[in-house]
Amino acid sequence: MTRTVTSVVDGQAVPGDRTVSSLNPADLDDVVGEVSLAPGRIFTAAAVVARNAQRAWADVPAPVRGRAIAHIGRVVEENAESLARLVTREIGKPYAEALGEVREIVDTCDFFLGEGRRLYGQTVPSEMPDKQLFTFRNPVGTVAVITAGNFPVAVPSWYIVPALLTGNTIVWKPAEYSAVVSNAFYDLFVKGGGLPDGVFNLVHADGAETYAGLQESLELGYIDKVGFTGSSEVGREIGALTGRHLQTACLELGGKNPLVVTPSADLDLAVEGALFSGFGTAGQRCTSLGTVIVHESLHDEFLRRFTAAVDAAAVGDPSQDVLMGPLLDAKFAERYEKFLGWVQPQHTVHGPTGRITSGNPRPGFVGDPAKGIFYHPVVVDGVRPGDELFDQETFGPIVGVTSYRTLDEAIDLANAPGFGLSSSIYTTNPADAFAFRRGISAGMVSINNSTSGAEAHLPFGGNGKSGNGSRQSGIWVLDQFTRWQSVNWDYSGRLQKAQMDVADLDADLGFRLDES
Ligand code: UN1
Repeated sequence: MTRTVTSVVDGQAVPGDRTVSSLNPADLDDVVGEVSLAPGRIFTAAAVVARNAQRAWADVPAPVRGRAIAHIGRVVEENAESLARLVTREIGKPYAEALGEVREIVDTCDFFLGEGRRLYGQTVPSEMPDKQLFTFRNPVGTVAVITAGNFPVAVPSWYIVPALLTGNTIVWKPAEYSAVVSNAFYDLFVKGGGLPDGVFNLVHADGAETYAGLQESLELGYIDKVGFTGSSEVGREIGALTGRHLQTACLELGGKNPLVVTPSADLDLAVEGALFSGFGTAGQRCTSLGTVIVHESLHDEFLRRFTAAVDAAAVGDPSQDVLMGPLLDAKFAERYEKFLGWVQPQHTVHGPTGRITSGNPRPGFVGDPAKGIFYHPVVVDGVRPGDELFDQETFGPIVGVTSYRTLDEAIDLANAPGFGLSSSIYTTNPADAFAFRRGISAGMVSINNSTSGAEAHLPFGGNGKSGNGSRQSGIWVLDQFTRWQSVNWDYSGRLQKAQMDVADLDADLGFRLDES
């Protein structure tokens, strides 16, 4: 029997008004679930429920909320393999990566469980006697979390764990194509955390209905903060909408992440890093490699070793030990076909392109390519600024290669597309590493490591077209989900006016040392 997943608002299943199927992209005959999509008014109804539940949740002592996070982490760990299997089945992420993604939820819980016993504020000296100043972190209130399906459990946890810990209530709108995983995540959080009804709500809706519901909720004052992970295009819309309501969304958007290979690089290490950065998750991470920028002296040798590694990589059934499974969903295949159309006569394409079929085979393919949405991994040499392939994000298994002469030129090329999420440099020269770090516009820099694979407790986020400067993870995300409140308490029994009733000591500012 195929399972049907619905929205869950105030602890109750809420059917929508139309149903779509979520298919296993590695086996399109396998219907993972039927997804009941809600109209925008259900999103608004969920926001009202979250609003009504918020004060009581904020009144739960932070250390107790921290315990809830600890329990969620434990329950996720106990269910890690079955959740990872479901991730692999619904979005085609290779199992080892899916398990790593589940691990990222546990890491995030491990970090924040202790934050419940910190959430530090400050005591600050006053300029007047018998007066004390304090700062408190207050929850922002109600949070709308809208996430993509390429990281269907790790990325939502980056928002949901700290938002819950700091006393906020949540409406979560996950991707339609990872809906079944989302309901599993929801159950683990609600059951594991013992969360009261209304604290965490899940709404399945398409983009247009979500936008309508979000707009209405913002207008009516039900949502205080939006967290969004997805395309730069939709991120701009969310940023404009929240801006009109004087809010700053936490935006985690696309990337065109560069990997620079300098003359001093360990070339095999760089090839290994480029292979995983470019084709892990079939190139569908926001941190995936866009363009390799390789020193001209190494260009030919790098390309030879890189294309050999791509040819040798295991592609196919994501439940097996492969580097690359299928694309996430048919809509990504459609977009990816468009990106392939950006190849120009001045480019050199390595190997076959397009969908892997019996007529367009990949030697060594693991499994039966006809069952799913599998594409050839593609390397395109000779991309330059002004080419769409160089300038635009190409979500999917395609990596560009270009060359440079001076490190300054490499940095300019790396920054040229105007994104700024992740970046990487392969070098054994510290001066090059630090010059790159200073010059690159990205929020994240890897030295001798892949562009993807950020750890869960370092700031994660981008600049330029990759976001609006917000950072997730670790202590840095606390500023997304809390607002500082400053308190002054005067117990002198009289009105002491700041800046006016302030004592001053008698300083002799004319004093000079006598050097005679
Ligand atoms: C994303 O693709 O939205 O650093 C997030 C990484 C992962 C997260 C990617 N830990 O690649």
